[in-house]
Amino acid sequence: MKNKVLEALYEKKGEYINIDDLASKLEIPVSKVHEYITSLENEGYIIEISSDKEFKLKEDLTLLLPHKLKDKLNTSYIGKEIHYFREVDSTNEVGKKLAREGAPEGTIIIAESQSRGKGRRGKKWISPLGGAWLSIILRPNTLPINAPQLTFIAGVAAAQTIKDEYGLDAGIKWPNDVLIDSKKVCGVLTEISTKIDTIDYIVTGIGIDANIDVNLLPSELRDTTTSIKSELDHDISRMILVQKFLGNFETLYDKFNEGNFQEILRKWRQLSKTIGSQVEIRKGTEIIRGEAIGVNSKGALILELKDGTLRKIISGECRHI
Ligand code: BTN
Repeated sequence: MKNKVLEALYEKKGEYINIDDLASKLEIPVSKVHEYITSLENEGYIIEISSDKEFKLKEDLTLLLPHKLKDKLNTSYIGKEIHYFREVDSTNEVGKKLAREGAPEGTIIIAESQSRGKGRRGKKWISPLGGAWLSIILRPNTLPINAPQLTFIAGVAAAQTIKDEYGLDAGIKWPNDVLIDSKKVCGVLTEISTKIDTIDYIVTGIGIDANIDVNLLPSELRDTTTSIKSELDHDISRMILVQKFLGNFETLYDKFNEGNFQEILRKWRQLSKTIGSQVEIRKGTEIIRGEAIGVNSKGALILELKDGTLRKIISGECRHI
């Protein structure tokens, strides 16, 4: 009978169904319909109920419910503890709070949507339903000076996942934006807290535009942003995307902890869309233009300027020109 309720929702997808009408059509009490709706919601369907007893299937997507996510998660510590939200201000903010309270390494915070998603350099990160918005709490045993190296891991893991799973031309713009062709599909925001000369915790936030309809994004983002759905012309399983991403992330993070950052850089170079491109780096008010010729062993970008001199860039906003 629950399937009959689901079928009715699918038949009328996008349109409201009256609960009383459905109950009499299926010859069951109205309370039973409510019961089935709750059970479908628990399974991960997003159902919207209006005030006048009508309901509809909001989106043809399954929620990233922790028990389902853990089901085929091939990791040993990343994602063992998952904090899940239908909506939250920012998963990074929750991550920092949990980290301060002692949450273990590998704890994940994941949300279906964020009301105040944070991007780099104080920008807003638009985070509607359909994306993969998550943060990972890390406690690496390394000096704070090495923390920027960690930011490469999430970019490499995301680009690798999108390339392998969907056969898309995903690559990385220095230091860790993931692009498909030349449009951004994923961003990474790493926040760090130090205690004297050790790292207390790191929260790495990853936002992947998975099943996002790019036309619904603010106009200023539409030309420079893409989503996996837009590229493939169909929805993908965000569950598989997140599971594979976390698996790849853990493998790379283990390498980092073994002191093998060079292996991560090797993969980064293979996926790089920046090396060989003309770029413009914005550092505060300074703008530096040149050809990106490589990254050094610490992940700094090496630019060859017009006059042939080399310049090492440790941080800054990079634009391909
Ligand atoms: C960027 O500007 O490119 C970084 C974007 C990072 C967005 C992610 S979404 C999950 C996590 N929570 C946030 O508020 N931001 C990060």
